[in-house]
Amino acid sequence: MAERKRILTGVRPTGSLHLGHYAGALENWVRLQGEYECFFLIADYQVSDYADDISRVRDSVWEVALDWLAVGLDPENSSFVVESLVPEHAELTTWLSWFLPLGMLERNPTLKAEMEALERGDETHAGKSVPVAFYTYPVMQVANILMPRAHLVPVGEDQLPHIELTREVARRFNRDFKPVFPEPEALVGRVPRLVGTDGNAKMSKSRGNTIDLKEPRESVAKKVKGMYAGPPRGATEPGVAEENPIFLYLEAFDPDKAEVASLKETYEKSGLPNKVLKDRLDGVLNALLDPIRERRSYYETRMPLVRDALAAGSARGRAAAQETMGFVREALDINYLEKHRNAGPGQ
Ligand code: TRP
Repeated sequence: MAERKRILTGVRPTGSLHLGHYAGALENWVRLQGEYECFFLIADYQVSDYADDISRVRDSVWEVALDWLAVGLDPENSSFVVESLVPEHAELTTWLSWFLPLGMLERNPTLKAEMEALERGDETHAGKSVPVAFYTYPVMQVANILMPRAHLVPVGEDQLPHIELTREVARRFNRDFKPVFPEPEALVGRVPRLVGTDGNAKMSKSRGNTIDLKEPRESVAKKVKGMYAGPPRGATEPGVAEENPIFLYLEAFDPDKAEVASLKETYEKSGLPNKVLKDRLDGVLNALLDPIRERRSYYETRMPLVRDALAAGSARGRAAAQETMGFVREALDINYLEKHRNAGPGQ
């Protein structure tokens, strides 16, 4: 069989995954896992924002693995890799940081936005100082992607600048040393950015506006009922569908596109009570989440299987990493001991 092209993608272990992760990325991972050789990374070196609560990192590693199994990622066909179990990530980060000008990081929009949030003391950052790890994490993300010599990186829209950076680093390395790395492509999911249940532009844990993949039925019902549904409007007053997140969710998750189109037409012509839309959304979300919750509870009662998935996946990730590090050492010409040079320095 011809060798499959590779995918490397991942998340930081910060807690449960939500519908935004699903529509923005996970759905693509599930779809592509048969076609590509996949490395799914749990990036536990990259959660320095949780330095004061490492137990949360530890718990989240399991949460993420369970969510991945729940959505149908297959740990036998793909590798679930815990980043810190492949310490070559740290090694490659160190080498790459020699060749990455600080200016390249400073131009990275994601980092820029996070820096500004830190300076303002926003959100989860309030009252914290900036750890050195904050500056190195984009370099580490580059190392993550280059490590298995990935061709494709399916991610949410917010990760695109990191992939651009990776392409730049790959080009430079290949040009200045040896052609070791493919220039990876990014792939953004069907719904690049899902609005939060509060109408905020982005669903995110720190804003508390998520619907999690493991959310029980009753809780989904409650959240949908309480969802922001656009500017106030009487039940028989026409509305603008784009301004109503319920419609955005229906467009994202309702498999019956024709029905959504017809509801939209009615909504914009003669109005529809939000309750009708919310009831439909509740049904649609539960139809999506039922099998996910079911698979999750299967694994929750069989945690040794989850452990096996992480152990086997990390071992495969490590083998790929060691192969790449061999190429990197050779390209940089730092195989000191293997060269059998018996001459001393300067000779
Ligand atoms: N930074 C990504 C996030 O916050 C997680 C991540 C780490 C990642 N390494 C990666 C994503 C490599 C894609 C490729 O979600």
